[in-house]
Amino acid sequence: MLDRLVKELESPSPQASFRASRAEAPSLSIPGEPLISDRHVPVDKDSSAPLAEVIGLERLPSQAPALQANLLGAVESVLNEWTHAEMLDRMGLSPARTCLIYGPPGTGKTQLALWLSARLGLPVILARLDGLMSSYLGTTSRNIASLFTFANRHRALLLLDEFDSIAKLRDDPNEMGELKRVVNTLLQELDRRRSVGLTVAITNHASLLDPAVWRRFELQLELPVPDAVQRSHILQRYLPPLEVSQGQMQLLAWMLDGCSGSEIEDIAAALKKSTVLDPQTSFVDRLQRIAAAHSDRLRPEIRTLLEGEKDVLAEELMKKFGASMSRVAEALGVNRSTIYRWNKEEVQAMEEIDVSSKGSPARHKRPEAKKAARR
Ligand SMILES: Nc1ncnc2c1ncn2[C@@H]1O[C@H](COP(=O)(O)OP(=O)(O)OP(=O)(O)O)[C@@H](O)[C@H]1O
Ligand SMILES: [Mg+2]
Repeated sequence: MLDRLVKELESPSPQASFRASRAEAPSLSIPGEPLISDRHVPVDKDSSAPLAEVIGLERLPSQAPALQANLLGAVESVLNEWTHAEMLDRMGLSPARTCLIYGPPGTGKTQLALWLSARLGLPVILARLDGLMSSYLGTTSRNIASLFTFANRHRALLLLDEFDSIAKLRDDPNEMGELKRVVNTLLQELDRRRSVGLTVAITNHASLLDPAVWRRFELQLELPVPDAVQRSHILQRYLPPLEVSQGQMQLLAWMLDGCSGSEIEDIAAALKKSTVLDPQTSFVDRLQRIAAAHSDRLRPEIRTLLEGEKDVLAEELMKKFGASMSRVAEALGVNRSTIYRWNKEEVQAMEEIDVSSKGSPARHKRPEAKKAARR
């Protein structure tokens, strides 16, 4: 069996290629009627609210979120399994058909799921579980069954957003019997769907899902908040046509530590707006204003540094991202010689602290010593 698999993988035929692309999508063996965007989706019988939204291919994103290389590799593997389902079938293997995407808000989970569907050439049936569950409990199980019947009839990817809502239901001490029935209906529907179509579920609260739910998902992708390299990639995507120097890019990536992709997109937009509307302001002053206007998004210690004296900021930048003096000078809009002077003053101040602390238990506070050194 393994020999045959290896041979098939090494075969030069286009089907054996592991490079998935939109062009390959039609070979995907997902049964069902074609789904057009305006198709009548099932509704909640009590409220008449639609149980899902159909997102046609034309509305799906053409670009994946910027992800770490290992995560992108994992996503490509998922795509390869799905696009080569027939090939795997001939080997007696089946592709994983259920995937759970989890991570903090704004990290690109929904965008990734929609892009996966675009790559497979499948429209999306988007169900928000919180909406489904909010109706009377008695009708919730019926809603879930209607949704899955609809999804199983069509050639589409079923996307279950806000998937943790079912976990919340389980926590509710009221009407335990009925709630259990709802959860079981969902789990049974998920199991049944595995033989007919692809399902992606998304949650911000993976810890709320119990093992019975985790087990339903053959693949699990965690999207964390971006690291410094990813933050630069995300900025490079959203800053154009605004051009920034390498030093400014590093400063921005440092400033946005802890932000999600979505927050970085918003701050990039704020920077572009302020550059257009207020071109006279310096880059650092611009960042200070943005930091003040997005106070909740930036780490307090980063805001304090941005709002403080430039020499302290310069020192931190050199320490934190090992930037050269010229990079920091470029980012802060000062001469290299100014950075050099600040650095010298810093060394001098530290020496003074050393001297004054000898023989005296009360050490000078660093900024005071620095001010003294400057005089
Ligand atoms: N890693 C990223 N790379 C590029 N853009 C990103 C990234 N993460 C988020 N974005 C931007 O933020 C927008 C919102 O992201 P998305 O809705 O996919 O996040 P989410 O993880 O589903 O958030 P939530 O948990 O709040 O639903 C995306 O459409 C995209 O424009
Ligand atoms: Mg989302």
